[in-house]
Amino acid sequence: MVQHITLTRPDDWHLHLRDGAMLKGVLPETARHFARALIMPNLVPPVVTSADAAAYRDRILRALPEGSTFAPLMTLYLTEGTDPQDVAAAHASGLVKAVKLYPAGATTNSHAGVRNLDSVRAVLEKMAEIGLPLCTHGEVTTAEVDIFDREAVFIDTVLDPLRRSLPELRIVMEHITTEQGVDYAREGGENLAATITTHHLIINRNHILAGGIKPHYYCLPVAKREKHRLALRAAATSGLPMYFLGTDSAPHVDALKEQACGCAGCFTATNTMALLAHVFEEEGKLSNLETFTSLNGPAFYCLPLNEARITLVKHELAQTFPEKILTEAGPVTVFNPGFPVHWHVDA
Ligand code: NCD
Ligand code: ZN
Repeated sequence: MVQHITLTRPDDWHLHLRDGAMLKGVLPETARHFARALIMPNLVPPVVTSADAAAYRDRILRALPEGSTFAPLMTLYLTEGTDPQDVAAAHASGLVKAVKLYPAGATTNSHAGVRNLDSVRAVLEKMAEIGLPLCTHGEVTTAEVDIFDREAVFIDTVLDPLRRSLPELRIVMEHITTEQGVDYAREGGENLAATITTHHLIINRNHILAGGIKPHYYCLPVAKREKHRLALRAAATSGLPMYFLGTDSAPHVDALKEQACGCAGCFTATNTMALLAHVFEEEGKLSNLETFTSLNGPAFYCLPLNEARITLVKHELAQTFPEKILTEAGPVTVFNPGFPVHWHVDA
């Protein structure tokens, strides 16, 4: 039996595109299925000012395949030197849709991140005033905190105090990976939302470590225990308005993943929609897929829904996806879920 599902064209509310040859190589993978994506600013050097964001947006638009209508939505990388007026101007012009908080040292290219939230207070107050969301990489980075506890400790010691002191600030908890993240987002009211990645719905920490180390499953925040994966699946498929898709598709060339100190990041742009259809069907919630991928995000970001649609088809035969995307920067391995996938975006 052939099954079809047609959705409003989805958006990706957390995407790494990089720059130069890598950008050119991976951008078509997202543009093929997604109408818009919120582009992460952790380049080297980072996208800090409105001028940086405008220039990066132009490079993305120039790298798009001929005829593509994909729209990059830009973010600024919050630093202790960020100018509130520059942020306000970037928001007013429509260029920038969010500001990204990376605790210093939390992840790939985050050394320019924030050490002390007090030092960016004026920026956060301006954002609260103008309604510009803060996207948080929600992990503390102090050496005493176990890497599997970083998210829960961030919620208690950074996020909750911040929200109490500035309740008007709109916040997106990016790529949540724990039951604590799911619960905190659910109770947060209309100024709080959370993105969930595709891969965190599929892997737990055993997939990374049992039976040999799997560098292509290593990302940050690192996948947690099975009970957390199950909580994420329940949240993503729930239809509740505060949860939406942010793939965190984060390409690194294989040479940088497969080495003694491998980079963090799973590259899921190519097969994300097919994998999500598989997951939502398994949960008996295919009818909530569109809510997660295409409706909740625009509602939170106060943007119109996409008019275009895509159709996913469940085929008799398992579908094949490229094992790697060959970019001029080098090969990038596509996330392999480890099970056959029958869904495919057909149009
Ligand atoms: C991201 C990257 O490679 O830029 N890596 C990752 O594991 N997700 C950074 C990030 O979002 O943490
Ligand atoms: Zn990311």
